[in-house]
Amino acid sequence: MMNLPKKLTKKLKLREEKNSLRTLKTPSNLVDFSSNDYLGFAKSSVIFDKTHQFLVDKNSKQNGATGSRLLSGNHQLYRELENFLSNFHLTESATIFNSGYDANIGFFSAVPQRGDIILYDEFIHASIRDGIKLSNAKAFKFSHNDLDSLEEKILRYSDLSTALEETSKFKNTVYVVTESVFSMDGDSPSLEKISKICKKNNAFLIVDEAHAVGVFGKNGVGIVQEVNLQNDVFARIITFGKALGCHGAAILGSKELQKYLINFARSFIYTTGLSPHSLATIKVAYTEMIKQTQDDKICLFENIQYFKSEVKRNHLNSFLLKVTLQYIVV
Ligand SMILES: Cc1ncc(COP(=O)(O)O)c(C=O)c1O
Repeated sequence: MMNLPKKLTKKLKLREEKNSLRTLKTPSNLVDFSSNDYLGFAKSSVIFDKTHQFLVDKNSKQNGATGSRLLSGNHQLYRELENFLSNFHLTESATIFNSGYDANIGFFSAVPQRGDIILYDEFIHASIRDGIKLSNAKAFKFSHNDLDSLEEKILRYSDLSTALEETSKFKNTVYVVTESVFSMDGDSPSLEKISKICKKNNAFLIVDEAHAVGVFGKNGVGIVQEVNLQNDVFARIITFGKALGCHGAAILGSKELQKYLINFARSFIYTTGLSPHSLATIKVAYTEMIKQTQDDKICLFENIQYFKSEVKRNHLNSFLLKVTLQYIVV
């Protein structure tokens, strides 16, 4: 086998020296305190069996999508699931992507244009950062969950956006992006206040609900709907690999946004669609999520409280913080 170029070997060595080298591990039989499988759906035999039955009932005997959704890959289950998601999440359209990473890359590389401004929470997920890197818009961070910092940045950079406008025929747009639950600390911003700030300043709000769907809001609808902001948010990103325990993601928004994404989001266009089995699993997982009782929810939050109190009792706070920071920094 050919060796790695020296520059790359050095980078790996540096990681080793910093004790931050990533390696792949096969899941063990340890108790799971680290995955995103909040509801235990990823290993649910009920969902597994019902998905099989769902496909049998539909006489769907196709293993793969066969191509991009824009060519041969847009099988019937896509329409059914996107309609279901639009109704459930009270939005005009739901556009399914192969993963949350793909959804964020696709959205941020395609929607904000040259001259536009993107303001993002400093702890925003890597997929959003990577999407922003591919965008022609200018991007600036605001302090984590800090409304004053956000407002100050909107005021400061709206001027820049207006200055850039002079070279363009169209009004520039300010986009603000945050998450409704940040996975590292489980904390949330005040979406109502952020939305108010955005409204006041004509900024477009985007909320990544990856860690909220399935856990927050009635029937797991997420926080945006819990606080009734679905009509004030320009786009929501929901993912199916966390509480829903399967795979894939969707961008929720207007029908026009959907039309735009189908035409310009490259991570939507230039990739093979999800298999019927993947979509069937998402649909069945939603059905099971809706069936979750108040007791199931209380049990989850009691487990979280118990975990937190044990971390405190065993003085593990600083250890966890170190692990978390290492994950963010590398
Ligand atoms: C906030 C957030 N957005 C997007 C993603 C990416 O989602 P997926 O795992 O479906 O690619 C993640 C996953 O870690 C996430 O935490």
